[in-house]
Amino acid sequence: MVENIQLSKRLKAIATYLDKTTLFADIGSDHAYLPCYVCTKYPNVRAIAGEVSKGPLARAKETVQAYQLADRIDVRLGNGLEVIDQNDHIDTITIAGMGGSLIANILTEGKDKLTNVRRLITQPNNNGYAVRSFLARNHYFITDELIIEENDHIYEIIVSEYSADDLFTALTEEEEKNWLFGPKLMKEKSTVFIKKWQAEHDKIDYVIKQMKQAQVQDEDKIAKWQTQQQWIKEVLS
Ligand SMILES: C[S@@+](CC[C@H](N)C(=O)[O-])C[C@H]1O[C@@H](n2cnc3c(N)ncnc32)[C@H](O)[C@@H]1O
Repeated sequence: MVENIQLSKRLKAIATYLDKTTLFADIGSDHAYLPCYVCTKYPNVRAIAGEVSKGPLARAKETVQAYQLADRIDVRLGNGLEVIDQNDHIDTITIAGMGGSLIANILTEGKDKLTNVRRLITQPNNNGYAVRSFLARNHYFITDELIIEENDHIYEIIVSEYSADDLFTALTEEEEKNWLFGPKLMKEKSTVFIKKWQAEHDKIDYVIKQMKQAQVQDEDKIAKWQTQQQWIKEVLS
């Protein structure tokens, strides 16, 4: 049956980070493809599919029904992590296909729900910095990162595990670079990584040119963009 679920390369990559016996919550689940795929593949996996919008919630319920997984996947309506509570004993959370700021907001607002969550798997569509900053400040250590391209989009997947150690001491330039580029991705410098950051570099060029043409120039903002562009140059060199 698993072959019937046409999972994207992006969601398949996320699925590889879920354990065979996990009890996970997929927040912003839309069609619930990820929980259905993983539950079909592994008989001992159970999941909660959380959705804030009624349309995607209805689609998630339809997929769960179609795959006869209602006894193992609970589809719940709610904002972010409010769909889970301690009694659910969730060990892993996946949040994919949203902006990094939204993912970071969901995690920040739901911090009290993370007590027993040992793994966070996130896939921000942009602003990985916001996600990595949250992780570092909240005891989640990045264990793996992927950067993939699918249908002309580039996606980052960030996998992290809870650590009792306090990982964050001070905001240094090195730390900021890690958050922006991803510590592992920056070391690997894959072809997709280079493509992403070359494009970002060119976008920043355009932004700076536009800002310099404005009647009132925001020097601080321009300087911030220039610093980021300099970091990109260094990483790509
Ligand atoms: C683009 S879809 C991604 C679906 C799926 N996770 C994926 O990666 O293919 C984003 C989904 O997140 C949901 N969403 C956005 N904000 C949310 C929030 N605060 N809590 C729960 N779901 C949210 C949206 O309704 C939408 O269905």
